[in-house]
Amino acid sequence: MPENILVTGGAGFIGSHTVLELLLAGYHVVVVDNLNNSSGASIRRVKELAGEHGDNLHFHELDLRDKPALQKLFTGTKIDSVIHIAGLKSVGESMEKPLMYYNNNIIGAITLLEVMDAHGCKSLIVSSSATVYGWPKEVPCREDFPVDAINPYGRTKPVVEEMCRDVQRADQEWKIILLRYFNPVGAHQSGYIGEHPRGTPNNLMPYMQQVAVGKRPALTVFGDDYSTGDGTCVRDYVHVVDLARGHVAALRKLSDPDIGCEVYNLGSGKGTSVLEMVAAFEKASGKKIPLVMAGRRAGDGEIVYASTEKAERELNWKAEYSVEDMCRDQWNWAMNNPDGYESPDP
Ligand code: NAD
Ligand code: UFG
Repeated sequence: MPENILVTGGAGFIGSHTVLELLLAGYHVVVVDNLNNSSGASIRRVKELAGEHGDNLHFHELDLRDKPALQKLFTGTKIDSVIHIAGLKSVGESMEKPLMYYNNNIIGAITLLEVMDAHGCKSLIVSSSATVYGWPKEVPCREDFPVDAINPYGRTKPVVEEMCRDVQRADQEWKIILLRYFNPVGAHQSGYIGEHPRGTPNNLMPYMQQVAVGKRPALTVFGDDYSTGDGTCVRDYVHVVDLARGHVAALRKLSDPDIGCEVYNLGSGKGTSVLEMVAAFEKASGKKIPLVMAGRRAGDGEIVYASTEKAERELNWKAEYSVEDMCRDQWNWAMNNPDGYESPDP
């Protein structure tokens, strides 16, 4: 019997790509999402992309904190493992509305773990973030580095990580993998699914995409006086399809009886500066990106990239796509869907 995997946040950017890879790998998938930052169109398009596997995807529009609804879902469907991706993720918004972030990200996780526990489902993968490293003192960031989150969104991640460790310590039937994503970008090669930020994008790639399609006049570069090669910040960009496959690798690892609660970085292991990313995107799109050089953005670390050794060794997973691939696929998504999921189907 194929395993039934519940994916929370499966309509979002990372979730939709993960659901597709799970379906293609032969899993049956149940998605729970409140569509707070996503659209049901992504689910429909994932079904289409999955071809003959598309019928193995079922969607429930519900908020994770709605415990009775979640209980009903677990009672009606046997869930083998859960991939918990749902969450609010904007750093700036979390500084303005910290309680909304703590409520959504922490109560959501508690409710999910309680319902899983009550139904004897103790196999879990959780989205965490490189944000837990804060401003790392050295790079590459290893999983055993101290946690030092620097904003309310960031602080919700170590809280959930610790909660998972405590749950697993108390009951060793639990098997939990915490995945710390670095900077996911790009889109599925089909140009059919991708990232659709609501309002003004905070992150580099979606902002640059909107400049390239003429929706915004210029990209503001936050700081060119860092101690890096060209003075701009260095990050670890990872193709969202590579990241999605990292979840499939983690799911396979959950069948290891000794897994306990483990944490893995999912990144490319390579550092790329803002200006290098701009150059790669200009090349992929054939568009000139007008730049406005500005001061540093509060809270930005200088150089952040992952040590990928542990994921390579224990998950047998390694990012395959280059920055050029990420920019090509991001641009393909942008060209096919100028208004994201509000565009007609390409
Ligand atoms: P996203 O906003 O595209 O997807 C998150 C999904 O969760 C959305 O579809 C949203 O509607 C849903 N959701 C939020 N709260 C919910 C709730 N209470 N109940 C049900 N559904 C809910 O974001 P994403 O980029 O796909 O990020 C997914 C996860 O990865 C988040 O946990 C985020 O913190 C983490 N992460 C993202 C990044 C990044 O740069 N994108 C980096 C590191 C970690
Ligand atoms: N940047 C610009 N101009 C912009 C947007 C970003 O110059 O308009 C720069 C930033 O200053 C930074 C780099 O581009 O140097 C990357 O910025 P992003 O906002 O795309 O990504 P961050 O590394 O700051 O943070 C993201 C998520 C966090 C997450 C982190 C690691 O926003 O939540 O990746 O996963 F924790």
